[in-house]
Amino acid sequence: MKNNILVIGGTGKTGRRVTENLTQSGHNVRVVGRKTNPVFDWKNPDTYDNALKNMDRAYIVYYPDLAVPGSRDAIKLLTEKALKAGLEKVVLLSGKGETEAEACEEIVANSGLNYTLVRASWFNQNFSEGAFLEFILNGTVALPMPEAEIPFVDVNDIADVVSKVIIDDMYNGQTITVTGPQKRTFKEVVEIMAEASNKQIQFVPISIDEFKDGMRKAGLPDSYVWLFGYLFKEVLGNPDNQEVSDDVAKVLGRPAKDFETFAKQTAATGIWNQSIAQSL
Ligand SMILES: NC(=O)c1ccc[n+]([C@@H]2O[C@H](COP(=O)([O-])OP(=O)(O)OC[C@H]3O[C@@H](n4cnc5c(N)ncnc54)[C@H](OP(=O)(O)O)[C@@H]3O)[C@@H](O)[C@H]2O)c1
Repeated sequence: MKNNILVIGGTGKTGRRVTENLTQSGHNVRVVGRKTNPVFDWKNPDTYDNALKNMDRAYIVYYPDLAVPGSRDAIKLLTEKALKAGLEKVVLLSGKGETEAEACEEIVANSGLNYTLVRASWFNQNFSEGAFLEFILNGTVALPMPEAEIPFVDVNDIADVVSKVIIDDMYNGQTITVTGPQKRTFKEVVEIMAEASNKQIQFVPISIDEFKDGMRKAGLPDSYVWLFGYLFKEVLGNPDNQEVSDDVAKVLGRPAKDFETFAKQTAATGIWNQSIAQSL
């Protein structure tokens, strides 16, 4: 059956791929964000109703992160409005190991809507489409938590999982934990990217405070500085958060993509050998 599916954050890393998958499968997809028509802005609840109108299901990507103050109220209001608008099911993208995100998961679970929670570990694509791309282009990756072993996940795997569970009601009420197949430290992934792109990239371990100082000097807002500090400390600071899950393979019937394959495929696009000016 073809569904009308709302994709909040549909121009972002996971939403764009979910939109492609669902459109290819013949579903009617409405992508919303701050520049779309209808417009959807998490900070403006007056925009929620138009986005939800006539939709059957929704993929919810909160921005910048479910850990930030205000996320709970926004998720509560959105799910209340979704229920009133007659949606059947929502899929929430959440963060693995984030206590704050779990409060939002609970709101979705108690909303009265059918739901699936997709809990993701840190994305491979943070190095190719996200906050860390500039470090790779500069050839120096200065990050805290050098001892943390992180089961980086590929956003294509997240999108494939979301595209399946949003349609298949077998996954209703479930929490799917999406990780890559192995844990890697920052130093290891930097070495893998350097080799794949045939480029000198060095990893420099720094403290969380040094990282936050760098963000402040770069003019980033306090809320982002706080968020990165929280993510490094809370998510990467607890080894229990970093377990590898086989949920990607269970849902998709194929293994999750490893970091080496991501690095080879990304290097082949040439993105890591661009100048910073070209990447903007
Ligand atoms: N990166 C990671 O390693 C990681 C790991 C686990 C979980 N997550 C979660 O992933 C989510 C981010 O997903 P993503 O990486 O797919 O997205 P993304 O690439 O960061 O893109 C953000 C999307 O949200 C939209 N957006 C930004 N501000 C908005 C606002 N005020 N109202 C409505 N839409 C807004 C953007 O579109 P416009 O700018 O056009 O509005 C864009 O479509 C976060 O909730 C984060 O917690 C990330």
